[in-house]
Order: sequence, then C-alpha cells, then structure tokens
Amino acid sequence: MARIVLTGGAGFIGTHIIVEAITQSHEVLVIDNFVNSSPKALDAVKKIVGQDFEFLDADLCDEGKIKHVFEKFKPDFVIHLAGLKAVGESVEKPILYYEQNILSTLSILKAMDNCGCKVIIFSSSATVYGEPQYLPLDESHSFGPTNPYGKSKLFIEEILKDWAKADASAKAICLRYFNPVGAHASGLIGEDPQDIPNNLFPYVAQVASGKREFLSVFGNDYDTPDGTGVRDYIHVCDLAEAHIAAVENSQNIEGWDAINLGTENGCSVLEIKDAYKRMSNRDIPYKIMPRREGDVGSCWSTSAKAKTLLGWEAKRDLEDMCSSSWKFQSKHPNGYDDN
Ligand code: UFG
Repeated sequence: MARIVLTGGAGFIGTHIIVEAITQSHEVLVIDNFVNSSPKALDAVKKIVGQDFEFLDADLCDEGKIKHVFEKFKPDFVIHLAGLKAVGESVEKPILYYEQNILSTLSILKAMDNCGCKVIIFSSSATVYGEPQYLPLDESHSFGPTNPYGKSKLFIEEILKDWAKADASAKAICLRYFNPVGAHASGLIGEDPQDIPNNLFPYVAQVASGKREFLSVFGNDYDTPDGTGVRDYIHVCDLAEAHIAAVENSQNIEGWDAINLGTENGCSVLEIKDAYKRMSNRDIPYKIMPRREGDVGSCWSTSAKAKTLLGWEAKRDLEDMCSSSWKFQSKHPNGYDDN
C-alpha cells in the first residue's frame, strides 16, 4: 500500500486515477481547487469505490498550505496532474500558463523535499514532440512544442530532471499522454468540458446527444488514408492503470525518465465518427472544414518503453472508448452540474 498525493484529482483523468488507486488498495489525498472541474465528480468517484478519501480544496501555489498538508499526510508518491491545459487559451495568455503550471510544480517539489517524498509522476503530453519527424513517436524523438501549454509541459520536465539529478534517491517519471478519451465503464465519471469542447471526443459525444448540430472535421486533405487527422486515442482507464503501474514499478526507474502512453494505433477523425455512431446508435452529422491551425496530420506512439519499465500496455479498444464515452454522455447530457 502506497500513500499517494494526487493533484488535479477532480478532473477527467484524475477521477479515473482515484478509482484505480483505491481499487488497488492505495491511500490517496486528492488536491483540487475546481477551476476546471466539479465537486460532483468526486461524489461520483465515491459512489464507484464505495468509500471516502482525503480531499483538500487548495491552490497548489499556496506554498505554506501545501507544505503543511504534505507534512501531515506523508506521501510516498505524488501524481501531479493539476494544470491549465487549453492550447488556444495558452496562446492568448502565455504568462498565466507559465505562472500556474510552473509555480504549482515548484511548490509541490518544495513540499516533497520538506517531507522526504522522493517520487513524482508527472502528466506530460505527446505535444512536447511537436511535428512528428517519424512515426511511431518514441521517447527519443526531438522536441518542438508549438504553444505555451506544450512548452510549459517541456519546461516542467526539465525542472524535474534537475530536481532528480540533485538527489540520488529521487525519481521523476514523466508520462507523455497521447489522446485520452472514453470513460469509466459505470458511466458515472467521464470528460465534462466546461465550454464548447476543443477536443474531438467530447465534441462528437455532444453531437450524438443532440447538444451540438454537427461535427466540424478540421481538414480532409492530410496525407492519411481518408485525408482526416490521425491520432493515438487511449482509453482513460488504461491511462489510469499506467499511473498506478508507475507507482508499483517505480523501482525500475532511475532518476528522471519519460515514458509515452499510447496504443501504437492511429485512428482518423472519420473512423472515430463512424465508431461512435455505431456504439451510440445516433446520427453524427458532419461538415468538412478547413484545417485547424497548429494541427499535424498523423501522430501515434510506440509502447515498448511502457511495457518494459512499467509492465503496462493498453488493453481497451476503440469500441470500449466510444461505448463508455456514450454511457457517460447519456447519463450526463449537460455535464455533472446538471445532475
Ligand atoms: N478534430 C476535428 N474536429 C473537432 C475537434 C478535433 O476534426 O471538433 C480533429 C483534429 O483536427 C485532430 C483530431 O480531431 O485531427 C484530434 O483533435 P483533438 O483536439 O481531440 O486532439 P489533439 O491531437 O489536437 O490534441 C491533443 C490534446 C492536447 C495536446 C495534443 C498534442 O488535446 O492537449 O493532443 O499531444 F496538446
């Protein structure tokens, strides 16, 4: 049993990690300030796991508070997910993104040093690679994030590298997510974007439920089999399991390391739309629109390193991703706050 602090635990990925951590008998302290999430998501988690867990409503940049709470809880591990994550907003408000994402990480590292916690697992992103120079993307691919959000992920990875270098017993595990989608099989937790969804899956879910009229397909002239963008979609429950695998196999990591989390499979926008239509039994009207600025044609991952170091690989397929997403969407047509 490990004692885990989970930052950003009320969000889409965080809620699924709480379920997995408690199912595997770990003790969690969740920290969130609900800037981009709802307390109802945590109530739903409690329903799934049938028990309560420790929770703190706090801004991670509040160093004094975070230090005090870490001293009391004495974590063995920190899983750090909290952060601002909207690509477009990060271009408009770069300083806010650097300030929030970087200062909160520094505050956590200080609190860890103060209480002797040696392992941090950080939610990084495939976005650190920028435009793929070859596929599948492996961890030694060059870097080239194209927006402040992606750069903040890369800068934090570098900070963690120096932090781990300064103490022979410290470990920093950067998990580079590809495209997390889907929901818990219960349909009680899932992705609940607060505004118009930026990402494909929640948008398709809202078209299927009738909340949005049609899907805009951003470009059909990419160099891909059907011309639409190809991505490596990974089920959020597989992603959650990877974090707990990182906790349970941290002895395999020396100092700092980065590990891709994907499925080794690429799916196009039209393939997603068709699969979602099949699994939801709803019509999904769509229109072909111009390319979205900053998008790449194709992006998918290798999983070799995750398999070797964490003993983890993705198990769930596209049908699981669509059917679970639809279950959550149909139970929460207007998100958590409407239920
Ligand atoms: N797409 C559409 N219509 C939409 C939304 C998306 O056609 O309404 C297309 C995009 O053009 C792309 C694919 O669907 O081809 C996936 O787009 P997403 O926005 O869902 O995901 P991205 O791959 O663009 O972005 C994700 C994460 C980011 C991260 C990025 C790079 O959401 O946080 O991967 O790793 F920065």
